[in-house]
Amino acid sequence: MGIGQPAQIYLPSPSQKGSMSLEEAITRRRSVRRFTSKPISQSQLSQILWAAQGISDTSEKYRTVPSAGATYPLEVFVVCGKDAIEGINGGIYHYHIARHSLTLHHKEDIRLELARAALNQEFIYEAPVDIVICALYERTTLGYGNRGERYVHIEVGHAGQNIYLQAEALGLATVAIGAFNDEQVRKVLLLDKQYKPIYIMPLGVSLP
Ligand SMILES: Cc1cc2nc3c(=O)[nH]c(=O)nc-3n(C[C@H](O)[C@H](O)[C@H](O)COP(=O)(O)O)c2cc1C
Repeated sequence: MGIGQPAQIYLPSPSQKGSMSLEEAITRRRSVRRFTSKPISQSQLSQILWAAQGISDTSEKYRTVPSAGATYPLEVFVVCGKDAIEGINGGIYHYHIARHSLTLHHKEDIRLELARAALNQEFIYEAPVDIVICALYERTTLGYGNRGERYVHIEVGHAGQNIYLQAEALGLATVAIGAFNDEQVRKVLLLDKQYKPIYIMPLGVSLP
């Protein structure tokens, strides 16, 4: 892959076994804001996206993260620099949950613009990858009314914690970022108005 890569990139299957216990990952989890430029592998990215929203029950299509009424309002985007993920060009990718694949959304590295839209938190630019979790509120508010908004926010927290713990277990690091201009982030990501960005999570190898 890399240059001339296909429009859809199938990720390696996520593993259901790891070398770190859940207790150790919970103990060690910390927000990290200093990253090396070391690339991450497709297997690591696969694992992170699976932890964020992947399917864990193939017959019912339930996911790794609980969801009010299984309405699944979240969409996950991967923003990466050139040479940030082995074999994948820089750009914006949408995580296709059912196929566990990435679909190219935009073929430019927009990490600098993303950092600017988030109060210049420079680690958004320095990290090789940024995971952006967006919500489509209507999927949940259709059945639950205004209370559905609360449910969406709770659900993003579940996804964020899974990313934190999975990153820790893989020897990677992240930080949950909620301080940004919603409209600017949406525009930088070239998303329609119904997409509301909730979390930006830079991802990479921590500086020692
Ligand atoms: C909803 C939410 C929003 C946050 N937003 C930011 C942020 O914009 N920038 C940042 O550097 N950290 C952000 N954080 C991370 C917190 O600063 C961090 O979790 C806290 O300092 C505790 O440190 P720990 O995560 O290492 O336990 C956020 C955390 C949460 C839960």
